[in-house]
Amino acid sequence: MGEDAIKQMKQAVAKAAADRVQSGMVVGLGTGSTTAFVIQFLGDRLRSGELSNIAGVPTSFQATVLAKKYGIPLLTLDDVEKLDLAIDGADEVDPAKNLIKGGGAAHTREKVVDSLADQFLVVVDSSKLVQKLGSTFPVPVEVLPFAVAPVTRALKALGGHPELRMGVKKDGPVVTDQGNLVLDVKFDEIANPAELEKTINNIPGVIENGLFVNVADVILIGEIVDGQPCVREVSA
Ligand code: 5RP
Repeated sequence: MGEDAIKQMKQAVAKAAADRVQSGMVVGLGTGSTTAFVIQFLGDRLRSGELSNIAGVPTSFQATVLAKKYGIPLLTLDDVEKLDLAIDGADEVDPAKNLIKGGGAAHTREKVVDSLADQFLVVVDSSKLVQKLGSTFPVPVEVLPFAVAPVTRALKALGGHPELRMGVKKDGPVVTDQGNLVLDVKFDEIANPAELEKTINNIPGVIENGLFVNVADVILIGEIVDGQPCVREVSA
């Protein structure tokens, strides 16, 4: 799949998601290239007057910067107990609507915000669909810098192959918005995602991992059909 087609699918799915936001809603603003389009389209709808009185709860520094750029008022989790809707991307989606997230190292805040929403809407292009989680993407694990060595050993003992995520256009490791590090962990097979999510989070020094089990309500999938971008919904 070419980069152009992927961009068209991301834009189509982002537009469909932004169109589901209604005036007065508090919306979780996800992180990544797809949600960047969502935030842009929400800004367009606010500017045109089609939408009013919405507020965003950002999941990252990136989402905060984009929301400010596109004129979306922001709230924090000190201001609201729950959200009407959260819109976020994913790196993998399985047939049970379970996800791997964290390609942008934002999965810790994303899990907090996305799980507080009445509806969590996931926006992906069709390249993200997999039969089994872990088949194309490692599980990102946010780790306290102080604990990287013991957590690495514990993840290896679970059968994982952890690698410290390194920066692009920045020497050294990726540092998260919380000041932590990320281990990307490839597993030969993830037989039980729910169990693995809990087991990894039980390792002392782990802040959060990118397995999102039983959190997503609706998946919107951008596809190219007969050369045209279109959007399919999975909600059952
Ligand atoms: C960030 C994420 C992203 O939502 C995920 O990586 C998908 O990103 P993109 O929309 O750029 O493909 O989990 O931590």
